[in-house]
Amino acid sequence: MTMPDDTAANPDNLRRGMLDELWALKALHTHAVAQAFAAVPRHLFAPEATPEQAYAANKSVVTKRGPDGAALSSVSAPAIQAAMLEQADLRPGMRVLEIGSGGYNAALIAEIVGPTGYVVSVDIDGDVVERARRLLTEAGYPAVRVVHGDAEHPIADEERFDRIIVTVGAWDLPPAWREQLVEGGRIVVPLLMRGTTRTVALDEVEGILVDRDHQRAGFVAMQGLGAHEETFLSLVEGEQVGLRIDGPADTNPVALADALLGGRTEAWSGVEVGGTEPFDDLDLFLATRPGRFGLLQALKPAVDAKLVSGWAQWGAPTRYSDTGFAYRVTRRVPDTDRAEFGVFAHGPDAAQLADQVVADIRTWDREHRHSEHRAHITVYPAAIPDEALPSGFVMDRRHTRVVVTWSTSADHAEHTTATRG
Ligand SMILES: C[S@@+](CC[C@H](N)C(=O)[O-])C[C@H]1O[C@@H](n2cnc3c(N)ncnc32)[C@H](O)[C@@H]1O
Repeated sequence: MTMPDDTAANPDNLRRGMLDELWALKALHTHAVAQAFAAVPRHLFAPEATPEQAYAANKSVVTKRGPDGAALSSVSAPAIQAAMLEQADLRPGMRVLEIGSGGYNAALIAEIVGPTGYVVSVDIDGDVVERARRLLTEAGYPAVRVVHGDAEHPIADEERFDRIIVTVGAWDLPPAWREQLVEGGRIVVPLLMRGTTRTVALDEVEGILVDRDHQRAGFVAMQGLGAHEETFLSLVEGEQVGLRIDGPADTNPVALADALLGGRTEAWSGVEVGGTEPFDDLDLFLATRPGRFGLLQALKPAVDAKLVSGWAQWGAPTRYSDTGFAYRVTRRVPDTDRAEFGVFAHGPDAAQLADQVVADIRTWDREHRHSEHRAHITVYPAAIPDEALPSGFVMDRRHTRVVVTWSTSADHAEHTTATRG
């Protein structure tokens, strides 16, 4: 007879703890997804980590790094996986393609779609493929097919899929994904938009991909044909502070570095946020305003030295010009748990840039803050002309045109000229 193991480090206990946390985080909404998390032994898919690390709801386990130390592959954090599986709205019997393998998420999908469903996972990295195949077989999921290849191309010998779940940061959606999706099917994808990432649930509707939900997330970057270069403009030696922009450099880092050291202008919006209230939508709103935009990033020593606000450690939304920049910050409202949004700006045009960002914060607060007026993200084929696009912020990719619209109750049906990103 084996004695029951009631210690906290027992994987079954850790798994139960993770489930409680996922419900508390509101990452789980349905019992179907929760059941999968209860059934699949996550620690078997993360032998690189201790069971405690493997079952931490908000932690990914990095399984491979590049020569520069950047994560190339990981078992994603349970909270992100749960949110994406909920977004995918999986049903028993579905055929699902997972892009980016690790084994664990494919096993979760296999649990939900059940024995009448079918799961294929594709990865560009031969080591990841070999690892995922081995761990899936060992954990009791040998029916999951793991394919080696660049997901830019269709998977050979496969019918179409009801769902495609992309588990790697994508800047574009290659035609292969649409071609492999059934009519009315759904793609869930971490989509990069001017440096910020949202996992977006996109339904195919008459050739267009229309979002049903989007949530903030972070992912390792796509490799292969779909890889996308961002530029990091270093403003302080040792890359202590820099501006990360989507695409090639279009400003002068020397001028911005001078601006940073030349003192700062503050401006406050009067718009407040509660201590635990999320404001991802504000940052997406700032990212999808016309004009140049990036994320100000800093390492902790630069924050400790008060060179930049602590927000820069997470990437602060920033509007910039040839000579200066202005980024979103917050300050505590005295004697409350609330904070006020404001702007730190640098450079000869600091006041003007700060005014623009404050005006944007106030517009978001007045017109879009309430959930029914959130951003809508729609993905059109690249060939669609401007006249056929709705009013919104347009980001042109190689294969698609991504449009972010911010409707208000007043302008639902209004169509005006699109703004190009
Ligand atoms: C975050 S990991 C996948 C996590 C995994 N689904 C899990 O179970 O948690 C992202 C993976 O995407 C893979 N990847 C990157 N670019 C790719 C591409 N173009 N095609 C297929 N896989 C790719 C990487 O090799 C990496 O293993």
